[in-house]
Amino acid sequence: MGASPLGAQTGTAMDFARRPGPDTPPSHDPSLHDPSFHDPSFGYPALATQEADRSFSAGVHYESAGLFRPALQSFHSAATLYKCALDHPPEFSHTTRHGPGQIRPLLAYACVRLAHLEHDALDDPAAASRLYLDAIELDPEPSAVSFDGLGTSLEANGGPREEALEAYRKAHERSPSAQAVAFHLAVCAERSGDGVLSRELFDRLRSLGGVGANSLVDSWGYVRWHMRKTGAEELNLHRGTRAMLELGLERARPLIESGGLVCEFGVSYGRSTRILAELLPPAQRIVGFDSFEGLPQAWGGEPAGSYTTNGEVPSVAPNVEFRAGLFADTVPAFLAEPDQSSSPLAFANVDCDLYSSTNDVLEAIQSRVVAGTILVFDEYICHPTWRQDEFRSFRESCKRFGWSYEYLAFSLTSKQAIVRII
Ligand SMILES: C[S@@+](CC[C@H](N)C(=O)[O-])C[C@H]1O[C@@H](n2cnc3c(N)ncnc32)[C@H](O)[C@@H]1O
Repeated sequence: MGASPLGAQTGTAMDFARRPGPDTPPSHDPSLHDPSFHDPSFGYPALATQEADRSFSAGVHYESAGLFRPALQSFHSAATLYKCALDHPPEFSHTTRHGPGQIRPLLAYACVRLAHLEHDALDDPAAASRLYLDAIELDPEPSAVSFDGLGTSLEANGGPREEALEAYRKAHERSPSAQAVAFHLAVCAERSGDGVLSRELFDRLRSLGGVGANSLVDSWGYVRWHMRKTGAEELNLHRGTRAMLELGLERARPLIESGGLVCEFGVSYGRSTRILAELLPPAQRIVGFDSFEGLPQAWGGEPAGSYTTNGEVPSVAPNVEFRAGLFADTVPAFLAEPDQSSSPLAFANVDCDLYSSTNDVLEAIQSRVVAGTILVFDEYICHPTWRQDEFRSFRESCKRFGWSYEYLAFSLTSKQAIVRII
């Protein structure tokens, strides 16, 4: 049996989610890395004629295009067929071009993708935990990603912290250099009262000295301080994107119901927009802003143009409208339109990564920010330049525009923060 495709990966499940799809498939399957393998019109890979493989590749494509429900369906079909091919080869081996030795890791990987989608996009961490366990059981060499995902989904679901701790320990054993895994283990150990282990891990992370490790330790110091009044049992630090957006919308409800605006800044293929549209009533107007040409400048390891849809505006739902162009142009123009010339901002999902772009947004909306406005920031903590990006822009805006605020939640897994203007 060859090395597990999952074993080679060192990031966390949530990290993989932000990367475009072609990075995510098992590394032993070169066709899944080769863009020419796929039909350029998007959709099913041109060469995968067998049904299980086609479903698997469609899942990868749909996920990278923000279509999380079709992605779930496709990975589910792939997983079902791979399982059938394992259990009943005579009847089902024709559904895949892979041999028996490859099917098991592929099936495990499909379970990991399903688990991630269940946790992050559907807010079902219990289902995610079961799927991570399936992946661990199926994979001949279970990966750090599966164990780390199991830990975060168990914690998000409020399960016994000892089980999460055990999962993180196994992830750490498999991938001692994965900083995010050591970080999750350190935080969980601290919250479980194992000060020796958490100190040792935080010291080791600090001694690595790189910006990545330091930013994780620094983020935890910040979150710990700002959440110090929240009881340990209520403090959920591993919510996924949907759970964070839902919590923000819930707290924005009084302003939304009185006609406040619901906006998103940074749409790309519309993954988070689709989540918002599912969480809100069908008649609720949602306005999304994006150039659809990607980041205007490089951000960390991501080059300018990352997240581009090549100008294509996604199709989401009838109550969602988009304004295409740079925030500095489109947001003031939108707010000057007669039908929202006096509406306050009820809720905004701010997912534009860059300091300059976040500044453009906050400056443009400042006259509509009122007591009760909810801002969800998507890349607020836990990345190397967090203190220079959305975080810095928000804090400077608070000084410039006289906003006071409270934090409602942080997620160490999704890197989001929810703030309420008071
Ligand atoms: C991380 S992506 C958004 C991801 C999206 N929320 C999702 O869930 O998939 C960031 C987006 O912000 C957009 N963006 C960044 N700066 C911008 C600016 N100054 N004006 C317009 N769009 C911008 C980029 O085009 C990109 O699509």
